[in-house]
Amino acid sequence: MLSKTQYYLELEEQYGAHNYHPVPVVLNRGEGVYVWDVDNKRYYDFLSGYSAINQGHCHPKIVKAFMEQAQRLSLTSRAFHSDMLGEYAKFITNYFGYDKVLPMNTGVEAVETAIKLCRKWAYEIKGIEKNKATIVVCEGNFHGRTTGVISFSTDVASNRNFGPYLPGFTVIPYNDAGALEKALEDKNVAGFLVEPIQGEAGVILPDNGYLAKTKEMCTKANVLFIADEIQTGLCRTGRMLACDHENVRPDILILGKALGGGMLPVSAVLTDDEIMLTIKPGEHGSTYGGNPLACRTAIVALQVLKEEMMAENAVAMGELLRTELNNLHSKHIGLVRGKGLLNAIVIRHTNKEAAWDLCLQLKENGLLAKPTHGDKIRFAPPLIITKEQIIECARIIGKSLSCLD
Ligand SMILES: Cc1ncc(COP(=O)(O)O)c(C=O)c1O
Repeated sequence: MLSKTQYYLELEEQYGAHNYHPVPVVLNRGEGVYVWDVDNKRYYDFLSGYSAINQGHCHPKIVKAFMEQAQRLSLTSRAFHSDMLGEYAKFITNYFGYDKVLPMNTGVEAVETAIKLCRKWAYEIKGIEKNKATIVVCEGNFHGRTTGVISFSTDVASNRNFGPYLPGFTVIPYNDAGALEKALEDKNVAGFLVEPIQGEAGVILPDNGYLAKTKEMCTKANVLFIADEIQTGLCRTGRMLACDHENVRPDILILGKALGGGMLPVSAVLTDDEIMLTIKPGEHGSTYGGNPLACRTAIVALQVLKEEMMAENAVAMGELLRTELNNLHSKHIGLVRGKGLLNAIVIRHTNKEAAWDLCLQLKENGLLAKPTHGDKIRFAPPLIITKEQIIECARIIGKSLSCLD
C-alpha cells in the first residue's frame, strides 16, 4: 500500500515532465508562513514560491478580492476593455511612479517585453541602425526560461542543447562597473539588464554603490537601465524595490511573482511614455495579460504590502535571521548572506550533495527550503513572519545541520 505522499510523487513522476527536481513533499494547504502536507504535517515555507508568496499563503484580503472578481469577470482578452484594467494601470503607475504599465503574466514574459521595448526605443528614438542594437547582461543572470532569455544565460543547464541562440546580447561580469563602462563604448548598446541582487545564482549581493554607479553610466551613455525586480522587488529585500536601497529609478522596471499575491501569474513592465509608446497596437500582447482577475488581485497584493509594513518587517526579521544563523557557529555554514528576507547560506562540506541532504533533514524537522546551484540554500520566508517564528526556524536549522556531522 502506497503512502499518500508516495502516491502523488509517483503520479507526477509518471505523467509529468521531469523538468524539476522537487523536495519530496506533497502539499495541499497553506496559510501565512505555513504549509501542510497530505498527511497534515505542518512546515515553515522558507522558499515562498521563489518569492511569489511575499504576502503569505492565502492572504485573506487577497483571497477575498480574487474570489469576488472570479465570480464576476475573469477574462475579456485585450480585444475588449474591462472596468479593472484602467483602474489597475492608474494604481500601479502611481504606486511606482511611472507613466505607463504593460501587463503580462509570467516573469519571463515581462523580461521579453522589456527587451522588445528596449530594442524598439533603440531604433525609433535613439537611432541605432536596424538590427544592430545590443543589450548588456550579467554573468550568472537568471531572467527566465524562454528561448530568447536563455540565449544570454551563462548557466549550461539552462541553455544546453536549446540553440540556436538569439543574438544581440553582451555578457559582462556581475558587480563590475568597469566592465559596463567598457561595454558602453559600443554605440549600439541600447540597454543594461540587471538583477539588483542575483537570486537564483545564490543571493549574490553587489557592492554598495554598484546600482547607482551603473545607472549613472547608463544615463550618460543614453542607454536604458532595465531592472529585473521579479524576485527582489515588492518588499523582499526590505525596500519596495531593491533599487530603492541606492535611490535608483530604473528606466524600465520589471515585476512579477508576488505581484500576483501568490494567487496567479501576474507580471508587469513599467516605464515612461517615450519608451512605452514605441509599441503600437498589434505589436505586442498576451491573451491573459491585464485580465480583470489579475488586475484586481494585483491591486490588493500591492496594498497589503504597505498596509502591513512588510518592507519594515523584512528588514527586522532578515537581520534577526542572519544573526541567529551566524550564532549557530556551524562548521557546515561557510557563509550567511542576504538583504531583508532574501537570504542564503553556503554549505561547507566535502559531500557535493550536502545542501540537498540538509534540505531533506529540514523537511523532516518541519521547514521547507531548496538548494540553488549545488551548495547554496535560499532562506526566503513570507514577509509576515514573526520574531518568535524566526527564532524557532533558526533552532530547526541548527538541529538539522547535525545531519551533516
Ligand atoms: C530575477 C528573475 N527573473 C525572471 C524570472 C522568471 O519568472 P517566471 O518563472 O515567472 O517566468 C525569475 C524566476 O525565478 C527571476 O527570479
